[in-house]
Parts: sequence; C-alpha cells; structure tokens
Amino acid sequence: MKAVIPAAGWGLRFLPLTKEQPKEMLPVVDKPTIQYVVEEALDSGITDIVIITGRHKRGIEDHFDRSYELESILERGNKTEYLRQVREISSMADIHFIRQKEQKGLGDAVRMARQHVGDEPFAVMLGDTIYRSKVPVVKQLMNVHERTGRSVIAIEPVPREKVKDYGIVKGQQIEPDLVLIDDLVEKPHPELAPSNLAIAGTYVLTPAIFDCIEHTTPGLNGEVQLTDALRLLRMREEIYGWRFEGKRYDIGDMLGWLKTQCELALANPAYAAPLRAHMEQLLKEGR
Ligand code: G1P
Repeated sequence: MKAVIPAAGWGLRFLPLTKEQPKEMLPVVDKPTIQYVVEEALDSGITDIVIITGRHKRGIEDHFDRSYELESILERGNKTEYLRQVREISSMADIHFIRQKEQKGLGDAVRMARQHVGDEPFAVMLGDTIYRSKVPVVKQLMNVHERTGRSVIAIEPVPREKVKDYGIVKGQQIEPDLVLIDDLVEKPHPELAPSNLAIAGTYVLTPAIFDCIEHTTPGLNGEVQLTDALRLLRMREEIYGWRFEGKRYDIGDMLGWLKTQCELALANPAYAAPLRAHMEQLLKEGR
C-alpha cells in the first residue's frame, strides 16, 4: 500500500514560526513532526510515500534528501552516531514529492496523488498528526481494510466544544471499536454536530475517492474538503470508522504542540529524569 502525506498547508496558527519553515518541520523533541509520520508508515510496511507540498516547503524535501557535505564533515570528525542518523533519514523510504500549486483544500491535495496511487487502496496520513500506540494507527486501519475491503477512517471521541475543529462522523457501532458510517460533516457547529466522534487524521481509502473528489464542490472556507468527498463516497460504498488504540497528539496549534513536546520529552529516557526534576523545581518555586 502507498501512503499520501498532505503537507501543503500554510501553518497560519504557528506564525511567525512558520513564516519560512513548514509547520510539518516543527520539531517534536528530537525530530521534525513529519519524520514521525514517515516512520509510522514504514513501521506499517509502507515504503512508497508521496508527500504533497507547496511553496515554502523546501525544508521537507531537503530533510529526506542526502546531504553530502554534512555527511563528509561527520565522517571526518568521526561522529559515527550522527552520521548513521543522517544517512538513515535519507534512505528511509521511496519518497516522492508533488507540489500543489494552489492551496485548494485537503481533498484537492489528496487528488494530486491520483496518478501516483493508481487504482489501488491507499493510506492518507496528515503531516501534522502523530500517535503513540502498540500497533501503528495506519496499520490498524490497514487490518480493518483487509477484512472489509472498504475505506476506513481513524476516529476518536472529542469533547463537545472541540467538534468545531474536526470532521465529525455519525454511524452505527457494529463492533466494540468499529462504526459503520452514515454521515460525515466537516467542522460542524457544536449544536449541529451529529456526534462527538472526530476524524483523527489517518485514513485508508479505496481509489473510488478520486472520482468523488472530482465531483466535490468547494465547501467550508471555499476549500475542497476531503470530508465532503467522503460523503459522496459513502453513497457509493460503505465507509468504516475505527476507534484506534493509542494516543493522538494534536499538533494543530501552539498549545497542542507545546504539550506534545513536554509529554514526549518526558517519555524519552534520554531526557526524562533531568527534565522532570527541572519541572518539579519550577512548580515548587511557583513559576
Ligand atoms: C483536517 C480534516 C478534518 C480532520 C482533521 C484532523 O482538518 O479536514 O476532517 O478532523 O484534519 O486533524 P485540519 O485540521 O487540517 O483543519
């Protein structure tokens, strides 16, 4: 299975940090966010990845490319561990880049991958969503797709006041973690939301989605929404929602990013003990 990683958004909520730097390159502890996404794909057996980029996204291409100057400096300096890491990043996967010339929405970004994906089911993994789970979330979806043959979306319940930030699904629970989706709506008003089950940012889709995107007119914010295209797909074939095992880290805004940094730094044995001691000291001092 191939994966499409849409990473063309402006990152407005992170300005001025993202004036020149893609938001997908924002660090989370010791790696840029998008590296976590690529690693999740690799851990799931996906090795062919298309990243949809746009203007100001050069940093992503450079990150996954070879850096001969850096490698020779590290080699000369005998910095073998750094050298290993730098080489590993550039040989991770078969990564392709497609530039979305105009940012016309998530649905349009996915459409750009049509030719590369062909007539096969494929994964969509948002470039700013990371998880910690026993089995990678995209692999969980691939497993459900294998037994249903249909599109599967990772979903999770969110507090009512948060439904306006997500695509929301409505459906019937047919297994403890599996929902047969009846309807989907992009970022509804909390009073109009059909449920509190949010689209979490990872999908396995059948290729029929591409035709549905072609027939989707611009929706919320004048953008071609993937959620609206899924609504059309739902009329042709079943779509499932999977309540995944694991924790999703919301890096969609500044506070979410800062919280994720703290949590993942505290989960990293290299930094956990001194960082915890520092935080406890700060709290004790009432800072
Ligand atoms: C996108 C999707 C939305 C989904 C969300 C998950 O919105 O359009 O349906 O719930 O990702 O993060 P965005 O956050 O890009 O505005």
